[in-house]
Amino acid sequence: MSLRLGDTVPDFNAITTEGEINFYEYLGNSWGVLFSHPADYTPVCTTELGRTALLKHEFEKRNVKVLAVSVDPLEKHLGWRNDINETQHCSVDFPIIADEDKKVAGLYDMIHPNASETFTVRSLFIIGPDKKLKLFITYPASTGRNFNEVLRVIDSLQLTSNYSVATPADWKQGEDVIVTTAVSTEDAVKRFPKGVNVVKPYLRYTPQPNLE
Ligand code: BEZ
Repeated sequence: MSLRLGDTVPDFNAITTEGEINFYEYLGNSWGVLFSHPADYTPVCTTELGRTALLKHEFEKRNVKVLAVSVDPLEKHLGWRNDINETQHCSVDFPIIADEDKKVAGLYDMIHPNASETFTVRSLFIIGPDKKLKLFITYPASTGRNFNEVLRVIDSLQLTSNYSVATPADWKQGEDVIVTTAVSTEDAVKRFPKGVNVVKPYLRYTPQPNLE
């Protein structure tokens, strides 16, 4: 059965380009992004891993550890990593899991046989410090993921895990957020001293509470 939001994600040991790791130990108390790609030495995957490396500081700022995975062997990952660094002008230093026995792919349901019997699709999992699944997306091999969107979702998840707010469509850091319906307007006014804009009793905005 595939993973669902709120599930505790499976732990595993794996061989990676950064040595052998235990997934839970590697994550520690950080947030995690685990993402699969179909195969090494392929163009879209090359851009995705390069983009992830170039966003290193954005992930670090958010206390997020990133891991990539495909079913290719370690030696292939190591050779391809040189190509990624060369062509994408980056330095990939996050682990790329060599999942030759498809253990991780199986645990995370990353092989969708009607798309490909052998290769992992583009799955991406955001995992909280509690090791629970916060988001997953799956893209086809032909479409590279939008890593700005991944960061945007992490911003929303981190904000909404600390305050009784939700984020509206297309929200970005710094924009107004929505007061959740669990909070009465009377309480909201006390909890959000920057102000509450009541558009409808169920649609109330407040400035992002964790900003100066
Ligand atoms: C790519 O990364 O470009 C790719 C990988 C597998 C199938 C199609 C495209």
